[in-house]
Amino acid sequence: METVLSGIRPTGNLHLGNYFGALRNFVKMQNEHRCFFFIADYHSLTTHPTPTDLHGNVKQVLVEYLACGLDPEKATLYIQSDLPETAELYLLLNMNAYVGELERCTSFKEKIRKQPDNINAGLLTYPTLMAADIIIHRATKVPVGKDQEQHLEMTRTFARRFNRMYNREYFPEPEAYNFGDKLIKIPGLDGSGKMGKSEGEGNAIYLADPPAEIRKKVMRAVTDAGPTQMNQEKPEPIRNLFTLMNIVSTPDTVAYFDDQYNQCMIRYGDLKKQLAEDIIRFTTPFREKILELAADNDYLHKVAQLGKDKARESASKTISDVRHIIGFKEF
Ligand code: TYM
Repeated sequence: METVLSGIRPTGNLHLGNYFGALRNFVKMQNEHRCFFFIADYHSLTTHPTPTDLHGNVKQVLVEYLACGLDPEKATLYIQSDLPETAELYLLLNMNAYVGELERCTSFKEKIRKQPDNINAGLLTYPTLMAADIIIHRATKVPVGKDQEQHLEMTRTFARRFNRMYNREYFPEPEAYNFGDKLIKIPGLDGSGKMGKSEGEGNAIYLADPPAEIRKKVMRAVTDAGPTQMNQEKPEPIRNLFTLMNIVSTPDTVAYFDDQYNQCMIRYGDLKKQLAEDIIRFTTPFREKILELAADNDYLHKVAQLGKDKARESASKTISDVRHIIGFKEF
C-alpha cells in the first residue's frame, strides 16, 4: 500500500486542469491506498488574500473536492492550516534548503516576472513548504500535473538531505504520479500554455461554470484561418482544442473532427459547439453537486473536523520522530 498525497491552493474555483491533472487520479486511488488530500491555504497567503476571500475560497475548494468524489471516510481530507506540524517541519527543512537552489526554481522565476512588486520570502521557500506537506505523512506517490514536477524533484532532494544528514532512512523519496503515464498539462482556451486561474479571463473552464458561461468561453477560444494543406500538423491553439476534446468527447467525435481537419473541411464553429456541449455534459453532475454541498455547512464542518483529527494523528507521529532524530530531547 502506498501513501498518496496531493493538494490544491484555494485561490479560486477548480478548473478542468486541476481535475484532470490531480483530482481525478487521486479519487481513483482512495479505495486502495492511504490517501491524504488537503487545501493548501498557507500557500495561498503568498498573494495576500483578505480574510473573507481566504475563508470563502477554502470553503469552495472543500465543496468542490467532495463534489468530485473525494470520500472523507476513505481519504483524509484536511485544511493545511489545521496542521501546525506542517509549519514546524517547514521551519526545520528551511535550515537545510539553500537560497541558490530555491532561486533557481522555475516557479519562483515565473513569479518574479509576473508579480515583481510582491516577491516575498514565502514565494522563495514555497518548495520547502510543499516538501513539508508531502513528507509530513511520509507520502510516496503525489498525483499532480506536469507543472509540479520540479517541486517533486526538490522534495526528493530535501528528503534525501535529511536522511543523509542524520544517517537514517527516515523519509521515503516521493514521486509525482499519473498511473504510470506521463504527467499531463491541460491547455487553456487562449491558444497557448496551460489552463490556469492566473492566466487571464476566459482561459480556464471551471467545474462550477454554468452552461452559458462554458459556451461563451469555448466560442471565444483562439483559432486560426484553417488548414491549407491536407494532413498538415496542427498549430498550438488548434491542437489545444483537440486535446480538450480528447478528454471530454467520445473517440468517434474526435475522429470525425480530426478527419475534417485533415481534409481541410473543418468548420471551427462546429467543432467549438460540439466541444462546449461535451464539456457541459461532463461538468453538469459536478456543478449540481457543488450547489447542493455549498448549502450544507454542518456537513462541511464535520468533514473538516474529521480530516483534521486524522491528519494530526499522522503528522504528530512524524514530527515527534523528527524532533528526536534532530536531537530535541526532553530534560
Ligand atoms: P495548484 O493549486 O496550482 O494546482 C493544483 C493541481 O492542479 C494541477 N494543475 C494542472 N494539471 C494539468 N494541467 C493544468 N493546466 C493544470 N493546472 C493545475 C497542478 O499540477 C496541481 O497538481 N503547489 C501546488 C499545491 C500544493 C501541493 C502540495 C500539491 C501545495 N503543497 C503538496 C501536491 C503536494 C499548487 O500550487 O497547485
